[in-house]
Amino acid sequence: MTILVTGGAGFIGSNFVLDWLGKSDEPVINLDKLTYAGNMENLVTLQDNPLHQFVRGDIGDALLVSELMALHRPRAVINFAAESHVDRSIHGPGEFIQTNIMGTFHLLESAREFWLASSGLEQANFRFLHVSTDEVYGTLEALEPAFTETNRYQPNSPYSASKASSDHLVRAYHHTYGMPVLTTNCSNNYGPFQFPEKLVPLVIHNALAGKPLPIYGDGLQVRDWLYVSDHCEAICRVLEAGRLGETYNIGGWNEKTNIDVVIQLCAILDELKPRADGSAYKDLISFVTDRPGHDRRYAIDASKIGNELGWKPAETFETGIRKTVQWYLDNQAWVSHITDGSYRNWVEMHYS
Ligand code: NAD
Ligand code: DAU
Repeated sequence: MTILVTGGAGFIGSNFVLDWLGKSDEPVINLDKLTYAGNMENLVTLQDNPLHQFVRGDIGDALLVSELMALHRPRAVINFAAESHVDRSIHGPGEFIQTNIMGTFHLLESAREFWLASSGLEQANFRFLHVSTDEVYGTLEALEPAFTETNRYQPNSPYSASKASSDHLVRAYHHTYGMPVLTTNCSNNYGPFQFPEKLVPLVIHNALAGKPLPIYGDGLQVRDWLYVSDHCEAICRVLEAGRLGETYNIGGWNEKTNIDVVIQLCAILDELKPRADGSAYKDLISFVTDRPGHDRRYAIDASKIGNELGWKPAETFETGIRKTVQWYLDNQAWVSHITDGSYRNWVEMHYS
């Protein structure tokens, strides 16, 4: 048997592939377009692993995807491929519409064609698992209950609107065609291999370079943080035992304000890599103009996946964030290889 993973050179996808092949001998076909966010260095430990086959390509390339499916006959497609950065979606939504909506549509069509042409157990066991986000639910007031799977969709950014749209397509393919789909909606991930445009790696990267740590607005926005391997494990559980057509919220039961996350990162860095001049990393904190349309609070109620599938996070925020800081300290070469011209251009354009 084989699984087809899309976006497996990105942050969560590469963690998923590495975790999967760390515990299973089921082959992975890894389809990734290698946008700025895809990085083959994430997969360097799999270079000589015959169970991993990387294919550079677009999920929207129906011909390529159909060929791959006919050749490898995967028992599941796990769709991580997406444009994932909210700030970039504000500056330029076009790619988000293209990949997150049109790309998912074409991938669904290729999967449907393959599934319909198969039969027996192969058809019965086939799964299309779509990886999505809690941002589709919009924003919460301070005292509102956390998002459950029945919350209304109210996406607020071009990114979350494009993800919401893809979720609706996946849902419709189950309702209309009976396709065996599963959708997961997860909260903010952190951990190894996250591109340093996102808050946690950006702060670590800037702190080590002695640069300002930009906090949008008052820094009191709340996110629900989950260590990336816990997300990957939850996806495995949903793939294994999730009920067809269902959606599962995944989160860390771990709400934190942005400013608290940054202060905690600074404190860990003070301990693991004190600054040469003896000053504290938190002195670098700098409040900057807020993100337009910035969602105030996300929080996930992960009861359904806990009760039905027995999943709960293994890491606490304290253990996960410490591991993450240590990983970035140990992998400075990985960071410096990606903070190239295009990354610098983004930082200059967005923060100046
Ligand atoms: P990422 O930006 O790090 O990686 C995305 C990957 O998709 C990259 O390797 C990129 O090259 C690839 N890709 C982009 N367009 C493609 C296309 N058209 N065809 C093939 N490959 C393409 O993203 P991430 O943070 O790893 O997120 C992965 C998925 O998880 C996304 O769908 C995202 O919406 C979802 N998600 C992310 C988080 C989070 O906190 N990062 C939380 C919940 C859900
Ligand atoms: O909630 C899940 C989502 O989490 C995923 O669907 C997205 O793909 C992922 O990028 C992430 O979205 P966020 O917008 O929450 O993540 P980001 O790391 O960009 O920002 C986290 C918070 O920190 C957010 O409130 C904005 C704030 N922030 C971010 C940056 C980059 C800052 O204050 N300063 C910054 O420089």
